[in-house]
Amino acid sequence: MTLSSEAGPSSAEQGARRGGLFAQTEVQTVAGPVDDLVGLPMPQQPDTVTNPSLRYRIRREKGPRFPFPVPNGWFIVARADEIAPGQLKPLHYFGRDLVLFRTADGTPRVLGAYCPHLGAHLAAGGKVVGDTVQCPFHGWRFDGASGACVEVPYDDVDYIPRTAAARVYPTIERNHMIWAWHHLEGGEPFYDVPQVPEFHDPDWLPIVVREFEIATCCQEMAENNVDAAHFRYVHGTEAIPEQDFVVDGYYKRAVALDGLFVREGYGLGLGVLRVQGMTTFLSSTTPIDEENLHCRWIFTAPRSLGEKAAEEAADRFVAGVSQDFPIWENKIYKDPPVLRPSEKGISEHRRWCQQFYSHPGGARPVG
Ligand code: FES
Ligand SMILES: [Fe+2]
Repeated sequence: MTLSSEAGPSSAEQGARRGGLFAQTEVQTVAGPVDDLVGLPMPQQPDTVTNPSLRYRIRREKGPRFPFPVPNGWFIVARADEIAPGQLKPLHYFGRDLVLFRTADGTPRVLGAYCPHLGAHLAAGGKVVGDTVQCPFHGWRFDGASGACVEVPYDDVDYIPRTAAARVYPTIERNHMIWAWHHLEGGEPFYDVPQVPEFHDPDWLPIVVREFEIATCCQEMAENNVDAAHFRYVHGTEAIPEQDFVVDGYYKRAVALDGLFVREGYGLGLGVLRVQGMTTFLSSTTPIDEENLHCRWIFTAPRSLGEKAAEEAADRFVAGVSQDFPIWENKIYKDPPVLRPSEKGISEHRRWCQQFYSHPGGARPVG
């Protein structure tokens, strides 16, 4: 999610009241693919967000795009309503095949997909039995909380080695979503997923979820928020916005427009944005692998703005972010970049990001 996106009409109205900070120059809206893309500002193409086949992809060089691994953090792996108690489904996130299931009592669990016995994919015919998942190949059962094998059903040897365990990804359900903790080296969570009270407040509308995939990484999307100049040249804002920026450990906060706009970040890939009088929205970017993301944006809005307010906010933000897509999906990561003095926030942000990598600035992990 980007400040970009708040360059939508409502923010423009607010901006007008505040001296035009977010007032836009004319931005073209284009339906369908653009053969000869011309930006400055970039046209808005909301269809490209949900339909990757319409996107402008010209990058052809091979090789890794980014010099860092999948970050450590909490990431959404499913909407809560996508899986019922007793259901099991395959996932692919963090460059790994995974399985998601709900135990009989409804607790969500995420395990590595491959059975430690002989490597069957647990979701290729496996089933949920109580708190466990049973492998389809020879019937071994694995506890969802610990990953430990709790039963080998066809022999009477009591001993089950500790190595007979599936990898466990700590999992929670919050904000109508299921979240898994990814840590490259299996480390424990070192921050929490915030509750968004508006998502359970009767004065706020039911959530509206927008999902899309994009060929970039968490750090690149997050860098957009501290890249003030791009708001003018990509999004067509009349001014380069100023914001107060606070960083505290894994947490960061940006405040703009005299407090009308507050964006809080928790780790790499989880942001909560409040645009006063318009919307509260949670943005989550889940790494599919080192170079691709599955984004979920969850919107609500005060009921007093009308039944369609959350949908309208979602439409505006999606239209706004569509302007970033041609940049994000075709750029490389410049390290070191060439920065102007006014752009030191980008260097600070890059330093802040390092705490979420098991191999800061280093090579990709093996295995
Ligand atoms: S491969 Fe899973 S029980 Fe044998
Ligand atoms: Fe942007």
